Amino acid sequence: MDHFTAVDGTLHCEGVNLETIAQEVGTPVYVYSTATLRRHARVFREALSGAGRVHLAFAIKANPNLAVLRVLAQEGYGADVVSGGEMARALAAGIPASEIVFSGVGKTRRELSAALDAGIGQFNLELEEEGEVLGAMAHARGLRAPATLRVNPDVDAGTHAKISTGRKENKFGVDIDRAVEMYGRLAEQDGLSMRGVAIHIGSQLFDLAPLEAAFLRVGALIAELRKFGHFISRVDLGGGLGVPYKAGDNPPSPADYGAMVARVTQDWDVELMFEPGRLLTANAGALLTEVVWVKPGAVNPYVIVDAAMNDLARPAMYDAWHDFEAVRPSGARMTANIAGPVCESGDTFAMGREIDRVSSGDLAIFRSAGAYGATMASTYNSRALVPEVLVDGDRYAVVADRILPETIFAAERVPEWLLE
Ligand code: LLP
Repeated sequence: MDHFTAVDGTLHCEGVNLETIAQEVGTPVYVYSTATLRRHARVFREALSGAGRVHLAFAIKANPNLAVLRVLAQEGYGADVVSGGEMARALAAGIPASEIVFSGVGKTRRELSAALDAGIGQFNLELEEEGEVLGAMAHARGLRAPATLRVNPDVDAGTHAKISTGRKENKFGVDIDRAVEMYGRLAEQDGLSMRGVAIHIGSQLFDLAPLEAAFLRVGALIAELRKFGHFISRVDLGGGLGVPYKAGDNPPSPADYGAMVARVTQDWDVELMFEPGRLLTANAGALLTEVVWVKPGAVNPYVIVDAAMNDLARPAMYDAWHDFEAVRPSGARMTANIAGPVCESGDTFAMGREIDRVSSGDLAIFRSAGAYGATMASTYNSRALVPEVLVDGDRYAVVADRILPETIFAAERVPEWLLE
């Protein structure tokens, strides 16, 4: 259920005709549905209602638009951030510092310092030295930084290699077998208040078994830590739950995930924390685009659209599938390749796919583009930075402007010696 549905033969987002948005804002443009965001936020919360005390932090890397953050904050979500920029956004969106978790394998000293000054609720430490540096900084300020140690449980999450994070050869977390000794040393730091452990094994997960295996390893670890007298009050179980991108995709339901979590963690006696990203926003967004040309090809015609890999990088980066649908379908179908205007063969959204028949000037959407879409956009080929629109019922607002190449290169300088 995503609120992108046809009304009188034309795709709408909630009560707003996508043709209206294309006309008034132009294309390409991301369109988000508030109702879908709220629904997903509630479904996930509800799914975890049997899991005791729960803290939900939206992984804002999935969609950091301020308006989206605001909607999710209204639904009671804090934020999981991985950079000073994301922290600034979360604060700007009105998320209290105490509701913000700072994750990330390469937090700089400057970012750690800014996060301490802001009063961030939790630091998920990725290595011992980071804990020492953070502890010293906090101690110098007369503070104790609330922290967890992110462990790497060495499980194969069975997802795309580029978004798998829980195998021991990945850069994330510390070896779970060395976590007890490391935790002991960190717990002795004056400037740290060690609260527990964190994991995140990967994204777009379609199988609960590796998650359960990882959680069981965490359960054993917290029992061991408590044996050594450590006070464990929080466990951050990360994000990662997969979403359907195409017909036949069958990810675990949030309810099944919640039931597994409740079963595995029932004796833990901690506050559980979650960092969902994709689950909340992917199917709440679509990329609206216009067909520029339909170009004859060797095997199939190329539908050249005005969106490109710089606007939606996922197909080029991960061979990801995004459903393509005409905004006003005629009922006829065609087999085509779908590509953008960027000068790389990799700028291809689909090959040999059966789609609605389209011709130049027609509007279409790429579905499920609300997560890791606009946020991964670039201005490659000196294309504009793609704008974003938020729909709520019958109204909509432009929540991110189209940033034109002229604005981007206004920040560039030609040094004087080249002007002679
Ligand atoms: N927590 C941590 C520490 C993470 O690294 C991530 C995602 C999440 C939570 C949220 O995971 P989610 O619930 O969204 O699966 N750009 C890629 C996905 C990268 C995910 C990175 N980390 C894509 O477009 O598929």
